[in-house]
Amino acid sequence: MSQIILIEPNDNLREILSLNLQTYLGCSVIIRDSAEDAIELMLLLPEIDLIISRNIISNENSAEILIKYISENDYGCNLIILGEFRHHLDSHFVNIKNHLDWEETIATTARLLSIDENLLKNKIEPEFIPIPIDYFLPIKHSACDVFIRIKKSVDQFQYVKRIHSGDNFSKAMILKYIDQGLRHFYISKEDHIHFTNHVSDQLINKLEQEHVGSDDHLKLLADAHHITLNEVKLLGFNSATVQLTDAIISDIEKILDTTPEISKLLKKIVNTKTNYLYQHSHMTSLLAGEIVKHMNVDNSHHVRVVAFASLFKDIFLVDHPELAKISSFSELEDQDLPDEDWELVFNHAHDASILINKYKDAPEGIDEVLKTHHGSQNGKGYSMAHVERLGTLEQIFIVCCEFVREILIFKEKGGMPKPVIKTIYEKFQGEEVIQIIKALEKVLLNLQTTKKA
Ligand SMILES: [Fe+2]
Repeated sequence: MSQIILIEPNDNLREILSLNLQTYLGCSVIIRDSAEDAIELMLLLPEIDLIISRNIISNENSAEILIKYISENDYGCNLIILGEFRHHLDSHFVNIKNHLDWEETIATTARLLSIDENLLKNKIEPEFIPIPIDYFLPIKHSACDVFIRIKKSVDQFQYVKRIHSGDNFSKAMILKYIDQGLRHFYISKEDHIHFTNHVSDQLINKLEQEHVGSDDHLKLLADAHHITLNEVKLLGFNSATVQLTDAIISDIEKILDTTPEISKLLKKIVNTKTNYLYQHSHMTSLLAGEIVKHMNVDNSHHVRVVAFASLFKDIFLVDHPELAKISSFSELEDQDLPDEDWELVFNHAHDASILINKYKDAPEGIDEVLKTHHGSQNGKGYSMAHVERLGTLEQIFIVCCEFVREILIFKEKGGMPKPVIKTIYEKFQGEEVIQIIKALEKVLLNLQTTKKA
């Protein structure tokens, strides 16, 4: 492996050069601040193959000092000088006049070190993947290097390191980036699983520390919900995403067991500043869980099924939460979506039911509840006309999904207040589903009574 000393005062350029020298050319890079520092190292290390240095650094004529040292000591290494340099150079000393042209620097390095250019061309670009910036709000440190992406030309980007692996960072710093309009950080694709594990560990620790049902706890749960859906969608079920899923489900169950005033909690969820998907999911699981208990529809197994189904029902809409509010075919058509998004929404229930089969510990029966959560038997599109053909648990879940949707949309849009339950009665037909809506009414009434007591 070739050893390169890099002397470059511009932080961003140094990061880009260092990253590319290591990733593309497989070189070992040693950073030094000046020619004097580099020479000190060369006295100890005779095997340096190349020095890449800015022409002048502060008051130091770095290029001249290095040329003199290499020539007088017959050191036998190459030198690339970044920035205008007018003196005569031989074949071992190369000048790149535009010091910002890092691609030229990399190509010249490859030539000087006789690295096969074909090999270089065939090298796969390091793949960076975007990570939503809000992942970084609930965590304090990263397990890998984190980059921001800068547009270099129409179709080219540079990646500049902003958080070093293991470094602590503050929430204030992340909020500052968000204020500046940054939506994603980037990490190397190879680090993705490791990164998710690390985020998952930190989230679970924090969830355990928060007081169950407090505002901070709900906000953290909303963060964990968002991250889990994103990561399961990208990575499927691995140790980190399974761990996060279990943590969320057990938190929701804990809340259900330890919160006597569910009505107060529902109100809190509606009013806490969190995202629609989380609010809809958590409220649906609470209400459906209560109905299951009220109607004695089996047992705790079904409470668990609705908790899981609530979490994963709209996983494929995690990047389009607005589209999760659609609940009929005509609403879907009214959106006038591009074909790709239309397909995504139309099939999201079906696709969620396929995905959940890959989770080996998912409770039995969850795939059917997911598939039919918009009433369609095959999980495609929307159909409230024949929900009576579905099982009891599936009908309970659909009713709760619709009820919570109506509440959240009313909260968001306002309008003439009218009993949401009336809208739900108007939406469904069928003996069993009417019994379920009545059970929902009783649950709500009980909740209100509990609240007044
Ligand atoms: Fe949905």
